Amino acid sequence: MPGCFVTATDTGVGKTVVAATIAAGLRVQGVRVAASKPVVTGIDEPDPGGMPADHVLLAACTGQAPEDVTPVTFRPAVSPHLAADQAGTALDPEALLAHARAVGAAAEVIVVEGVGGLLVPLTRTWSIRDHAVALGLPLVVVARPALGTLNHTLLTLEAARGAGLEVRAVVLTPWPAEPSALEADNLATLRELGGTPVWTLPRLPVLTPAALAEASEGWPLRDWTA
Ligand SMILES: Nc1ncnc2c1ncn2[C@@H]1O[C@H](COP(=O)(O)OP(=O)(O)OP(=O)(O)O)[C@@H](O)[C@H]1O
Ligand SMILES: [Mg+2]
Repeated sequence: MPGCFVTATDTGVGKTVVAATIAAGLRVQGVRVAASKPVVTGIDEPDPGGMPADHVLLAACTGQAPEDVTPVTFRPAVSPHLAADQAGTALDPEALLAHARAVGAAAEVIVVEGVGGLLVPLTRTWSIRDHAVALGLPLVVVARPALGTLNHTLLTLEAARGAGLEVRAVVLTPWPAEPSALEADNLATLRELGGTPVWTLPRLPVLTPAALAEASEGWPLRDWTA
C-alpha cells in the first residue's frame, strides 16, 4: 500500500495541516489519493481558529466523504482509549486496520493521520505505533519549531525506529517568517542529529485545498509516499 503515516511529537502540533497539505498536493498532481484517520476525538470542541474537524478537512482535500476518512468519532477531546471507555465501548484494532486498508485499496496512495503522538493508546494493548507498523507505512513526523522540540522530536524518531518504522521526513510547523536564533538552531540541529530530511511549513492564512496544495510545492511528495 503506497502512502505515508503522519505522526507528531504531541497532540495539536499540525498533523492534520501537514497530512492535508500532502494529500492536496498529490491530488493536484493527478494522483488518486485517499486519507485515513482511525479515530477523531473532540468533535464537540471546535478549534478556536475555526479549523474544521480532522476528517472533514482531510476529506475536502481528497474528495472523500468525512465518514470514509474516519470510521469512529467521539465527542470529548480525550485519548481514544478513554473516549471509548466513557462511551461504554472499546476500539477494535482489526476493524480500524481493515477500514484503513479498504480506503487505501480504493486509491493509488493513502495518507494516514495518527492520533496525538506515536505511543498514544487506541486500546490498552494497541497503540498508534502498532497501527502504523501494521499498515507498513513510512512516517512523516510533524514537530513544533519552538523550545522543547529537540527532545520531543528525537524521542519520537527513536520510538519510531525502535519499532522498525522508516522515517521519511520531519516537518516543522508553523515555521515563522522570521525564525529566532533558537528556531533556526532547532532546524539545523534536527538536520544534523535526526538522520532524516527536515522540512518546514509556513503559517498558512487559510486552510483551503488550493492553499494547502500550493504550500506543498517543492516537497518531495512522491518520495514520501512511494
Ligand atoms: N502551517 C500552519 N498554518 C496554519 N495553522 C497551523 C499550521 N501548523 C499548525 N497550525 C495550527 O495548529 C493547530 C493544530 O494543528 P492540527 O490540528 O493540524 O494539529 P494535529 O496534530 O492534527 O492535532 P490533533 O492531535 O488534534 O489531531 C491548528 O489550529 C492549526 O490551524
Ligand atoms: Mg489532527
